[in-house]
Amino acid sequence: MLSVRFADARPAGSHVLVVPVASGKVEPGALGALGDAAAFAARAAAAARFEGEAASVAEIYVAAGEGASRVLLVGTGAGDDKGYEKAGGAIVARLLTSGETTVVVDPGGHQEAGAKLARLGYAALLRSWRYDKYRTTQKPRQKPGLTELVIVNAGAEAEADFARRAALAEGVFLARELVTEPANIIYPESFVERVRGPLEAAGVEIEVLDPAAMAALGMGALLAVAQGSARPGRLLAMRWRGSGAEPTAFVGKGVTFDTGGISIKPAAGMEDMKWDMGGAGAVAGAMLALARRKAKAHVIGVCGLVENMPDGAATRPGDVVTSMSGQTVEVINTDAEGRLVLADAMTWVQRTHKVKTVVDLATLTGAMVVSLGHEYGGLFSNDDGLAGDLIAAGEAAGDRLWRFPMSDAYDKLIDSPIADMKNVGPRPAGSITAAQFLKRYVEEGVRWAHLDIAGMVWAAKAGTLWDKGATAFGVALLDRFVADTLEG
Ligand code: BES
Ligand code: MN
Ligand code: ZN
Repeated sequence: MLSVRFADARPAGSHVLVVPVASGKVEPGALGALGDAAAFAARAAAAARFEGEAASVAEIYVAAGEGASRVLLVGTGAGDDKGYEKAGGAIVARLLTSGETTVVVDPGGHQEAGAKLARLGYAALLRSWRYDKYRTTQKPRQKPGLTELVIVNAGAEAEADFARRAALAEGVFLARELVTEPANIIYPESFVERVRGPLEAAGVEIEVLDPAAMAALGMGALLAVAQGSARPGRLLAMRWRGSGAEPTAFVGKGVTFDTGGISIKPAAGMEDMKWDMGGAGAVAGAMLALARRKAKAHVIGVCGLVENMPDGAATRPGDVVTSMSGQTVEVINTDAEGRLVLADAMTWVQRTHKVKTVVDLATLTGAMVVSLGHEYGGLFSNDDGLAGDLIAAGEAAGDRLWRFPMSDAYDKLIDSPIADMKNVGPRPAGSITAAQFLKRYVEEGVRWAHLDIAGMVWAAKAGTLWDKGATAFGVALLDRFVADTLEG
């Protein structure tokens, strides 16, 4: 793991020197960190067609004082927060396995970019995360060697700003690990045990319901999904009491593996369904982040944890189950399991705690990936204010959301001839009918939003803040939502 620190002067040992440069600012005046070599460096950079575009990198060959084994200019684009974030990600993408161990970022004495440099450090930290636990044959030169990023000449506020972001990074890394681990390692019970240690150490109260406890509460919907698996389900509740206010609830879909059940999925790509617990991972990660930065907010995170498998005890298409709310569901398709899990988790948190706001996160529908691809998560809500707050938090945090419509006409599509509702509608608008299903479990007077993050949990290609694989979408969004709407 990359360690990020702030210092007054460049360290003595061998390092890569990085100078951040904004678009159109590739001139000696902006390269003061290079001292006497600034003029030559500006010409070399221009010759290499380096213009300071965000995340662009130019390696230049100049003597830059004791210890600097190489010098990189890294573009910050408009020189705003986003530009510095892209620069941080680009530095690590370039140097992680380069053989270098220390990178020093020096903007030069004349810059005032404190919070921006914290953002650069945060992006570098996030981009450095990898999970190599199961690789046993990597050669030394393939392994990440970069261990330290030192930022010098940062403004006074940079260090405190970074500390807040470091707490968020802990939550992001927890979520990524949960999502990355295969389903033989992370299943309902082991999910709970993996998160318990760090959460309790941070001051989060944990409550866990096993199948007997859930049966006693009448959670027939969640249990109908769990019953085809050898792994018993769990309901995990995490409570952070950082204020005396009424709690806000976050609810995560935690299907640790989704075979589809008896309505079994095709073989091709089914391995992806190890990350069908990405909503639960984001909720657990967000709870850790909030507790680690001691957020002044009262938040309850709930994860509905089950494995959707097709054994002899599995739920059959056509079975009718009774949810904790008392409403009955005809299970037409056992692959529409997430909504069954969320229904009982939502009822539980609304009836156990007096919550006024519920936000659920779920890899709920393949249709969402068809709609929005991998750029936005889908947002559904019964409250315009809540929807607006979530969209704003998402924009600020980099986890973007796009709102979808809901209406009685869509709701009608899940009426059942035998029960109160069926668990799937017709093929069109599959993400919306899934949301309409969840809406039937929102109690009177509760503001609710559903985030369908099916396209966002796992990335086929590297981004600014992640390598290929788990993104931890939702953790930064929830952290920001809490900071902007519940604190201060
Ligand atoms: N976990 C899947 C949704 C999913 C698919 C997430 C692909 C990420 C990538 C969910 O449980 C599911 O199987 N949904 C079905 C619903 C259908 C049966 C109405 C789907 O999307 O096909
Ligand atoms: Mn499914
Ligand atoms: Zn699923």
